[in-house]
Amino acid sequence: MKGVILAGGLGTRLRPLTNITNKHLLPVYDAPMIYYPIRTLVEAGIEDIMIVCGGNHAGEFLRLLGNGEEFGLKHLNYTYQKDEGGIAEALGLCEHFIDGESMVVFLADNIIETSIAEAVRGFEKQDYGARIILKEVDDPRDYGVVRFNENGEIAEIIEKPTDPPSNFAVIGVYLYDSMVFDIIRTLVPSKRGELEITDVNNAYLQRHRLRHSILKGWWADAGASIDAYYETIKIVAESVMSK
Ligand code: G1P
Repeated sequence: MKGVILAGGLGTRLRPLTNITNKHLLPVYDAPMIYYPIRTLVEAGIEDIMIVCGGNHAGEFLRLLGNGEEFGLKHLNYTYQKDEGGIAEALGLCEHFIDGESMVVFLADNIIETSIAEAVRGFEKQDYGARIILKEVDDPRDYGVVRFNENGEIAEIIEKPTDPPSNFAVIGVYLYDSMVFDIIRTLVPSKRGELEITDVNNAYLQRHRLRHSILKGWWADAGASIDAYYETIKIVAESVMSK
């Protein structure tokens, strides 16, 4: 199982903080944002990791992370997303690196409290398809949101709905087999001009190859807005201080 951390984009929702650096390098309590997803992957036993950088400050990732020694790694892989083509386009750049294996894809502004080791082991047994992770939140309108059918199965995922059909948001941690690259090739840009990860998940759903887990513990999406960024720092600080 390989890991992909998506750390591109211009971080427009966090301007002016992101005018002089990449969003995922901003501090979250006592560490740069990108440290948290790397730690979560390494803790789950994933040590072959690709970091997809982008935007104007991509060189800073190398300066900060090097070969990942700080995380107990011997090596880190890097690639660069030239255009603002979206999460699914960024993942598409990793086909050669993944080389037919399965992967965990982590949006670098998502921070979670608990281990993903169980989901990873579950996915290794599942062996094909995709697994998404859901979290019930008060207001899911900034996220991909699940609509369930009368049997409690996922019927559809809707990206940033104005009228959410449930309170279950799709967090930015996804497990995929290598079929994901064939799916990405079929996508067309959304209204915001991006290849959407929600379209990838819906494509797996249509093929009856999408499973899900419910996240235990807290989840923070530091990149959704300035308020979400501030809230993330608070949650992380409280969590570190309570240990
Ligand atoms: C992305 C996904 C969305 C998901 C969210 C989690 O949103 O498109 O489905 O719920 O990440 O952080 P974006 O950050 O691109 O607005």
